[in-house]
Amino acid sequence: MEVIVKPTAEAASAHAHDLLVAHMQRSPATVLGLPTGATPLPVYERLVASFRAGLITFRTTTTFNLDEYLGLGTQHAASYASYMKRVLFDHVDCPPSQRHIPDGLAKDPQQEALAYEAAILAAGGIDFMLLGLGHNGHIGFNEPGSDFASRTRLVDLTPSTLAANKSYFAQDQSPPKQAISMGIGTILEAQTIVILATGASKAEAVVRSLAGPATPAVPGSALHLARNVIFVLDRASAGS
Ligand code: PGA
Repeated sequence: MEVIVKPTAEAASAHAHDLLVAHMQRSPATVLGLPTGATPLPVYERLVASFRAGLITFRTTTTFNLDEYLGLGTQHAASYASYMKRVLFDHVDCPPSQRHIPDGLAKDPQQEALAYEAAILAAGGIDFMLLGLGHNGHIGFNEPGSDFASRTRLVDLTPSTLAANKSYFAQDQSPPKQAISMGIGTILEAQTIVILATGASKAEAVVRSLAGPATPAVPGSALHLARNVIFVLDRASAGS
């Protein structure tokens, strides 16, 4: 496990972007795992700029997002499908057939989760996973208590996660209390995992993930079991 601490959130985001770009240049036919949320926004901005500058192409890239809210379709502004279109897919050349996000409107979410796992397997597994870290230590929507062997499945969101994401929903909308999320076991199988955490509010989750022990009470601590993990932090999240 490697830990890189940059002076600012901007510098940490730039570093995560640079790792991803170097990987895409080395392996154009790559399979990426992608996160949503506030933390990766500067990474996506930089990726779009790198695409426009001709440094990378997504034409041969396959993507799998970590999660999607149950009950939200691609047209819903707070869905992760619409987030990904807004911040990345509308601006780059990744063919729609190569982008994967769990279908929040699936009639049978368990079946959708199984199909998602099968699609990851058929793509040869995830080569490079970019991850965020929740304030409660969650990775993807794997909340504390999630089994380290868990696979893509329907999950319940904790009150702290619902509170953290409330601002993405209009006042009269109640955020879904469930999501379809890659499991911790699914995430751990990625060849390389880059986890980006910025800001003082993440410091406790960072230290509990990094210091160990690996315990389901802190999903981020499962990363001790992955083969190649790089924590990219700013000083604030590193508590320094
Ligand atoms: P955030 O979410 O980037 O919006 O803080 C991170 C996460 O929940 O994984």
